[in-house]
Amino acid sequence: MTTKAIASRFTDFCTQTRPIINQALAKYLHAAYPFQAQNRLQEAMTYSSIGTSKQYRPLLTIAAHKLFSDQLHTIMPLACAIEMIHSYSLIHDDLPAMDNDVLRRGKPTCHIKYDEATAILAGDTLQCLAFEILAKDLPHTFSPQDCLTAIIYLCKTLGVDGMAGGQQMDLDATNKKITDDPKDYLTHMHQLKTGALIRSCIVIPAILNEADADTQKHLTDFATHLGLLFQIADDILDESPTADLGKTTGKDSSQNKLTYIQLYGMDTAKIMAKTEANAAKHALSQLKKPSESLIYLNDFVDFTIHRNS
Ligand code: IPE
Ligand code: IPE
Ligand code: MG
Ligand code: MG
Ligand code: MG
Repeated sequence: MTTKAIASRFTDFCTQTRPIINQALAKYLHAAYPFQAQNRLQEAMTYSSIGTSKQYRPLLTIAAHKLFSDQLHTIMPLACAIEMIHSYSLIHDDLPAMDNDVLRRGKPTCHIKYDEATAILAGDTLQCLAFEILAKDLPHTFSPQDCLTAIIYLCKTLGVDGMAGGQQMDLDATNKKITDDPKDYLTHMHQLKTGALIRSCIVIPAILNEADADTQKHLTDFATHLGLLFQIADDILDESPTADLGKTTGKDSSQNKLTYIQLYGMDTAKIMAKTEANAAKHALSQLKKPSESLIYLNDFVDFTIHRNS
């Protein structure tokens, strides 16, 4: 298959699935406040979680679930919960106390559109709602024990050993010299701040569908390389004047952030992204699954390394 044909297959998958995700997100956000008139907090949650996201994580969650089942509706609560958590992380990431960004997904960031306090609360409530959805709406197709394991896994990927811990490492390294080996520090930071949630998108469907230990191991390897690749690509795109990201570019260098470009330079960063892409594809090839069922996860690797938006 040509690169163009793969790209078009992936685009078709995304184009068909995004409206379904948006509809489910809207339903959940509305259901969260059924008896109240629209309020400022609910508006801010909706503003920041529905619309122009790439929906990389929910699409990835669905693609991973497709390895085990064609029942899209069974995985929608997880896909939506993860997208809400991601949106929360971006609202907080953009705050003046963190990256101080004014543009996100082609619109003013949440704290610019509303105010800082509302943005903090919108992040908090998106995270709460995500866990409420998981506790209430994961279907009976999945066993209660597997649902619990999945929820605990997700909690871990967001905490000190996950996204929040990685964000702290990012802040600790901004404008400062770190004492640890910067190469190890950077890889670990990226694996936590971005990689951990991306890993959840793949490993949690495997947990819920009771994949065997071998499958879980190869999928975890795949997800770890994909997550690192995603953030290296994000660092590269931040320095790419032609990228159409809907967020301000050039911020990492102006804020003196520790990134792959800052540490290794653009050319090496691109080679390292390719190495992670190859490692991800290799991990996928180890799975004892018909190659037909792996196409969407394979396409995600190509999308992640080639994307320009
Ligand atoms: C941006 O994520 C934040 C990072 C973890 C690098 P995305 O590039 O997936 O942003 P959206 O969700 O499409 O806006
Ligand atoms: C954000 O990383 C990671 C999380 C939100 C957890 P970045 O700060 O690089 O993301 P962008 O570039 O602002 O989207
Ligand atoms: Mg940041
Ligand atoms: Mg940022
Ligand atoms: Mg970035």
